Amino acid sequence: VGHVRVRVDLSTQGYDVVIGEGARRELRGVVRTAAPRAQLAVIVTTHEIAHQSWFDIDPGVATERVIVPDGEAAKRLSVLETVCGEFARHQLSRADVVVTVGGGAVTDLGGFAASVYARGVGVVHVPTSMLAQVDAAIGGKTAVDLAAGKNLVGTFHQPGGVICDTETLATLPARERLSGLGEIAKCLLLDGVDADDAARMSDEELIVRAITLKARIVAADERDDGQRALLNYGHTLAHALEVEQWGRGVGDLRHGEAVAIGVSFAVRLARRLGRVSDDVVRAHDGVLDALSLSHRLDDDVDVAALLDAMGRDKKAHHNLTFVLAGSGGFDVVAGVDPVVVRDELMRFREAG
Ligand SMILES: NC(=O)c1ccc[n+]([C@@H]2O[C@H](COP(=O)([O-])OP(=O)(O)OC[C@H]3O[C@@H](n4cnc5c(N)ncnc54)[C@H](O)[C@@H]3O)[C@@H](O)[C@H]2O)c1
Repeated sequence: VGHVRVRVDLSTQGYDVVIGEGARRELRGVVRTAAPRAQLAVIVTTHEIAHQSWFDIDPGVATERVIVPDGEAAKRLSVLETVCGEFARHQLSRADVVVTVGGGAVTDLGGFAASVYARGVGVVHVPTSMLAQVDAAIGGKTAVDLAAGKNLVGTFHQPGGVICDTETLATLPARERLSGLGEIAKCLLLDGVDADDAARMSDEELIVRAITLKARIVAADERDDGQRALLNYGHTLAHALEVEQWGRGVGDLRHGEAVAIGVSFAVRLARRLGRVSDDVVRAHDGVLDALSLSHRLDDDVDVAALLDAMGRDKKAHHNLTFVLAGSGGFDVVAGVDPVVVRDELMRFREAG
């Protein structure tokens, strides 16, 4: 059946993202395009994923499977070493291909392993969480975590293809779905989609829309400098919230849930700075509500700790940076006064 294809146009070689119900059945063709001489595919996945009813993954060549820990625990240098050892044991060659199947943790770790094993082998991602479909698997960033922080060691390694099968999302836990919707809401807002349109869109339409935006931005800016920074909309507060929660040892806010709170705050900060009117704040709230995302700060959140984390994030204690809406679109705004941010955060928390 007709699956949607979104092209990611890169200076070197671009690739297609295939999206739709049952899109995983196109894996053979995608592997043939990505790695025409492949005789072996090594699937990197987790037990939890491999046991799902939809897990019938056929790369069309001889297949081996490497199992990694589920969730963030996959993103460790020790796991990277184990996975590369398994690649060697299976005699994976540079003509062969790695296929990742799972959430963003699996696509990040598997993409990293593919980028460094034998100085780089091809990879095809089959992201199975909504967040991985719209974000982690697109754009070529890979990483593992260190004790000192998330994603501190990684590479850029563009996949040869990406398959987003919406059927796999049927088994996704509700919180993980919200996490994906948070990143999607960010994309819709960057793209100027209004609440009525957002409310009318099916999951597949939402995913296609978000991927199309990310593909456009990544094509314009393969590495992280200009435009790509706009994808960090909502992330100044989101990252700070993740750090603050981790510091208090509370909460289990998923990344996209934090992003929903982050964009809700960012538009209020933009209003405070005179960049946008109340209408724009209402429009943001409308889109977030349309996707059933809660976007308020809990009243036990420590505002001072958030400010601390924001400063640390960009190594600039007196110079906070936000992506902010303005009259002519979105801008990366540096040098936002921490006193104003603090005050706006207090209001935001009280309004919650
Ligand atoms: N490389 C990038 O550009 C980029 C962008 C965004 C996020 N990330 C990374 O992605 C990771 C987060 O990804 P995530 O939110 O997918 O988390 P995750 O990979 O930890 O997956 C979350 C949970 O959902 C489960 N799951 C996934 N698909 C499922 C399905 N179809 N059915 C049932 N369960 C399923 C997973 O097994 C896991 O338990 C983070 O490590 C983050 O740093 C990377």
